[in-house]
Amino acid sequence: MEKQVESIVRQVVEDVLRKKGFAKNERRQLVIANWKMNMTLEKAEVFLEQLCDNGENRTNDVVICPPYTLLYPMNKLLQKRSKTIGLGAQNLHTAHEGAHTGEISAAMLKELDCQYVIVGHSERRAAGETDGMVHEKIKRALEIGLNPVICVGETIEQREQGFTNEVVNHQLLQALEGINDFSKLIIAYEPVWAIGTGRSASPDEAQTVHEAIRLTLSEICGTDSEAMPILYGGSVKPDNAGILSNMKDIDGFLVGGASLVANDFQKIVGTLRKGMDS
Ligand code: PGA
Repeated sequence: MEKQVESIVRQVVEDVLRKKGFAKNERRQLVIANWKMNMTLEKAEVFLEQLCDNGENRTNDVVICPPYTLLYPMNKLLQKRSKTIGLGAQNLHTAHEGAHTGEISAAMLKELDCQYVIVGHSERRAAGETDGMVHEKIKRALEIGLNPVICVGETIEQREQGFTNEVVNHQLLQALEGINDFSKLIIAYEPVWAIGTGRSASPDEAQTVHEAIRLTLSEICGTDSEAMPILYGGSVKPDNAGILSNMKDIDGFLVGGASLVANDFQKIVGTLRKGMDS
């Protein structure tokens, strides 16, 4: 009986989504820079100057995630240079506080005016971050009012064996189990094989997974899922961002390498709304 109800609900949600085709421009579009372990204060200053000079008007679509050591000065710089660029961290700890040498808590990020935090990046998963830890980190972020950017994605072996959707769905279900505040969630689909390799997913490959993610989200969060941005990440560059951003379920990007060069990053940001205007 329960299964029957579940399948009817799934069908109704699918139909509504298909018919309504929740317009892409009703969702927030954004580009997040993941600087990883790069940049110095001097370089960050130059980057911000170039970015703001090039297109201050677009910066409400932009979030920068510098290394921890740059969060404080970046916050000060952003207060001076831009009212709209968001600030995010690349990680946080699962605990509220305590004896965790070298770790940073959600409250510490909040104190530095961070609004976003990346959770479950594949480079952290490779260093031992489990689905359970990702889940705890999302809870810590939400408790304090941070927007978690939740990364999911399959390895090349998992893709070749045809498990992409299973892997991504599993990561999402584990991450969001029991969560009921969906308004702050941002999802980033980042195929592991595309990160830092120069080999981006094709627009169709990415769109297929984004569509599957949207369906899974609709099962987890109901209609709240329609407004949830799903970003693509993995070798996004100025020359592939335009075509990727035209896809129906791609709402922006999480950018590593190309976010270190202001001009490239600005070009990627600039591709965002073009597809929708036409
Ligand atoms: P990349 O990294 O753009 O250098 O592939 C993306 C990411 O790791 O978020």
